[in-house]
Amino acid sequence: IVSDMKGLKSGKLRLAVVTTAKYFTPRLLGMFCQNYPGIDVALKVTNRERVLERLTNNQDDLYILGQVPEGIDAVAEVFLDNPLVVLAAADHPLVNHKNISIDRICDEPFIMREPGSGTRMATERFFSEHNKKLKVRIELGSNEAIKQALVGHLGIAVLSSHTLALDAPMGQLAVLDVEGFPIERHWYFAYPSGKQLSIVAQTFLDYLRQAHHSLEDLSCRHAITGHYPLVING
Ligand code: PGA
Repeated sequence: IVSDMKGLKSGKLRLAVVTTAKYFTPRLLGMFCQNYPGIDVALKVTNRERVLERLTNNQDDLYILGQVPEGIDAVAEVFLDNPLVVLAAADHPLVNHKNISIDRICDEPFIMREPGSGTRMATERFFSEHNKKLKVRIELGSNEAIKQALVGHLGIAVLSSHTLALDAPMGQLAVLDVEGFPIERHWYFAYPSGKQLSIVAQTFLDYLRQAHHSLEDLSCRHAITGHYPLVING
């Protein structure tokens, strides 16, 4: 029985996650793999559009994304929060302002993620719901490149607060206090409806559902609940 149990808990877990999930998924997997040393993991990191393509083609065991898949017959379950915040260089003139209006944000040059990005989709939706138009100065296909561009004073951006995860000590970015922000989003795991999950995938799902405490450590609430202006300086 013991060897059967071991056998059940070994094999490969194939995950595909949106880019911002790369800021916590590896740590989550670290905890999981400590409990299940027989399980190997393959992690694909790409944008929302590509993750949805992979989900449609049933290429992986499980998917992590920032919004329930629309137009695809999939099971999705929420497991963690994903607040989107307005970021700027720590010495940006708006850093000391309180309750900055959306209009004021629209005056600033804006750094936007590429088409197909879920972050972009949520940002565009927010501003169009408020009948406002951003002045997009530059489009970049990576959260890290956007952070570099912020530090380089190319503009301001909206990104998941998870993108700040390990950068806290650097103190080069600030979260701006903007009306209507953070945009409250969540992380979902998903898989095609009717898919027969492997035992390994099922084990990972059960782990996600039970790991509330450890998940709280991965949450980036602390990055946005401080008083404003909040300079990320650990
Ligand atoms: P993205 O997705 O990496 O495609 O921007 C993030 C999200 O949907 O939250």
